[in-house]
Amino acid sequence: MKIAVLASGRGSNLQAIIDAIAVGSCAAEIAVVLSDKADAYALERASKSGIPNFSVNPKGFENKAAYENKLLEYIRQYNCEFIVLAGYMRLVGETLLAAFPGRIINIHPALLPAFPGLHGQKQALDYGVKVAGCTVHFVDCGMDTGKIIAQRVVPVLQDDDEDSLSARILEQEHSVFPYVIDKIAKGEIYLENNKVIIKE
Ligand code: GRF
Repeated sequence: MKIAVLASGRGSNLQAIIDAIAVGSCAAEIAVVLSDKADAYALERASKSGIPNFSVNPKGFENKAAYENKLLEYIRQYNCEFIVLAGYMRLVGETLLAAFPGRIINIHPALLPAFPGLHGQKQALDYGVKVAGCTVHFVDCGMDTGKIIAQRVVPVLQDDDEDSLSARILEQEHSVFPYVIDKIAKGEIYLENNKVIIKE
């Protein structure tokens, strides 16, 4: 399965997917990496692994649809069948959603539906929950509201700060994301009638 990975920042989840593919534990191929930020380290990681990558500045377009159509040009040029959001810090619009219905996933650093949006880890700490984690979900038009595919749980420790909790969650992100992508590539996870089907 050829995938496009969209990332806005450091790209550690992208790296985890690259590494999993390299050792044969993720049956996908990253055909292209796209970013809305020209200086995203994710682009450098892609280059280092020989993966075509491009930045597209949303400000250069008159509206979101035009921006997403540019992304779609690349996504189609590289024959991608699926889109993976790995730290992509924008709400996906109807142009991408309509072009890839049920074929876009995201990872969020909280146990959805709790703590959607920015700084999920800090929201969890501020609330005082005793467990936190991450969620992989299909993307719909809401903010972190799509159907949940997989979650991993970590403890919140007494002396945690945002950094320590984020690091503990990130370790789980790096394991669950390639795992889910692998199962999607093998046809073992999919969306049917708005329900997530998982074949064990
Ligand atoms: C991760 O915590 C992910 O859950 C969230 O954004 C962060 C991206 O980190 N959506 P990285 O760029 O993959 O290192």
